[in-house]
Amino acid sequence: MSKRKIMIFDTTLRDGEQAPGFSMNTEEKIQLALQIEKMGVDVMEAGFPISSPGDFEAVSRVAAVIKNCGVAGLCRANKKDIEVGWEALKGAVRPRIHTFIATSDIHLQYKLKKTREETLQIAIDAVKFARNLCDDVEFSAEDATRSDVDYLCRVVEAVIAAGAKTVNIPDTVGYTVPMEYEKIISAIMNRVPNVDKARISVHCHNDLGLASANSLAAVKAGASQVECTINGIGERAGNTSLEEVIMAMTVRKDLFDEIEFGVNTKEIYRSSKMLTAITGVNVQPNKAIVGKNAFAHEAGIHQDGVLKNRITYEIMTPESVGYPANSLVLGKHSGRHAFVQRLKALGFEISDEAMQAAFDAFKILADKKKEVFDEDIENIVLNQTAQTTK
Ligand code: KIV
Ligand code: ZN
Repeated sequence: MSKRKIMIFDTTLRDGEQAPGFSMNTEEKIQLALQIEKMGVDVMEAGFPISSPGDFEAVSRVAAVIKNCGVAGLCRANKKDIEVGWEALKGAVRPRIHTFIATSDIHLQYKLKKTREETLQIAIDAVKFARNLCDDVEFSAEDATRSDVDYLCRVVEAVIAAGAKTVNIPDTVGYTVPMEYEKIISAIMNRVPNVDKARISVHCHNDLGLASANSLAAVKAGASQVECTINGIGERAGNTSLEEVIMAMTVRKDLFDEIEFGVNTKEIYRSSKMLTAITGVNVQPNKAIVGKNAFAHEAGIHQDGVLKNRITYEIMTPESVGYPANSLVLGKHSGRHAFVQRLKALGFEISDEAMQAAFDAFKILADKKKEVFDEDIENIVLNQTAQTTK
């Protein structure tokens, strides 16, 4: 039996970057975009081109350098946004226009001040306009999980008929729970007559800490694209965390064996580290998959178990997500080569000059400490970056 392909749509550079403290300049976006491409996602959303000249530039530059995955740009459902979005995206090998409008009565009444019929027409017109420019168009029904399901199904049917190849059902405010989201996605899969002409996508926020669980429930119900961000960064409590959904579908293959996806899990840790190095915002130590303690065993009973057989307390290996094998302890006797390797494994791509300065700082610290830990190295590089950008 052929497997159902689950597309991974990374929105670290758009929804993730939108969150306070996570903004990135164009060079940083390009550096991370190359790593996201290397990780093997299917589409990356590079930004919201009309939102600022800087975002426009970043989206065009990312579109120009990324060759092995789709590049999307977000546009509201109006001609101006879509035209500007297309201008930024058109140099991509696989461009995608991502247009959206809200479908919940709450948003229609208080934000858009439009009726359901008016909003439906705006959505159809936007998709048709975008399809005249670009073959790959995604439509998002913002605040879908607080929308009337019958109306939502009508919108999905209409935008597919208008030419949307992907229809996204966002849980914009992180309100739904797995049992409910599964029902919404099932309703769409069962009730929308032309649903097989498009891919149903899910995009969850983490306000109740359920973004990953909701995304997995939606995949079970038939969704075939998951939108997510590295380290789960994003508006408010963040978005679905890429590493969590990918590793859940990998570790629990027994529950998801009818599906396949293309991400190289060994690039996960490096991607996480590169993001924290760029933004200067660390994940909490107990963060699933990529936190400092994710594979640490402190309790004696656990240590004893792991020493006897790792599967006693480890459901996945650190290597499977690309944790650097810590066989090399860095200290005052370590050479430049080992240091450079560790920096690379930690996600830092810095100039030769910055590397030399970091190595000098490392040697000074190593003289004072028995062992230099990854956090020490991160601090050295981050302090230097802070000093050079002052
Ligand atoms: O959360 C949301 O609804 C979004 C859409 C614009 C896709 O980010
Ligand atoms: Zn979002």
